[in-house]
Amino acid sequence: MAKDYIKLSKEWFDKQAPVYDETDTILYSKFGKISCQYIYEYLKNKDYHNLLDIGCGTGYLIQMLSKEKEAEYIGLDLSPQMIQQANHKNIPNAKFIEGRSDALPFEDNTFDVVTCSQSFHHYPETNPPLQEALRVLKKGGLYILSDTGVGPFGMVGVKLDDFFYRCFATTGDCNISYLKKMKKDMMKNGFEIVEAKKVTTFIYAIVGKK
Ligand SMILES: C[S@@+](CC[C@H](N)C(=O)[O-])C[C@H]1O[C@@H](n2cnc3c(N)ncnc32)[C@H](O)[C@@H]1O
Repeated sequence: MAKDYIKLSKEWFDKQAPVYDETDTILYSKFGKISCQYIYEYLKNKDYHNLLDIGCGTGYLIQMLSKEKEAEYIGLDLSPQMIQQANHKNIPNAKFIEGRSDALPFEDNTFDVVTCSQSFHHYPETNPPLQEALRVLKKGGLYILSDTGVGPFGMVGVKLDDFFYRCFATTGDCNISYLKKMKKDMMKNGFEIVEAKKVTTFIYAIVGKK
């Protein structure tokens, strides 16, 4: 029987939440910090009035961005404990809510920017979260995705990774991809690609426009 990846992710991140920020290792916040830094730099000279961060964790990205730019920030995450950590930070102009990436509780055409840092590889299916991100973006809005990929190993890496995670892992990881494939998936779901790059060997970033 297929594992319930949503339940596993929720349990995994509920446990990680109290020590996530300060535990700077691969299983905790190391890759998240790299992806958040990329998104922060990308947005530095961009204008936006509101931003949704999907899989926001402890609000690390929103905290960085809100120091740089005054805007309305919303963070959404599956894990109540992650949301609690984010709320404890008392970030001005920021609101944090529980929710799932494949059922966003927002009207169509709401946000100027939607971000997703190191969360996508926990989503059991690829298309529904991409369609949701596109739906809630305003026309011309940006979706900035940065995630862990299989680097140079392409489809073979994805298959091996899937096998490993599906058989052995209890962390909710279930959908590791790579730059070329995710770029195609985003285009198939209606995004125009404005940037696609390797941030490090195993971290990629893609910016799509609605
Ligand atoms: C590795 S953490 C990254 C947190 C933060 N974005 C960062 O870069 O530091 C992944 C986050 O995605 C959340 N997540 C996993 N699956 C999710 C889903 N289906 N919908 C919303 N959030 C999800 C987890 O609860 C967790 O907080």
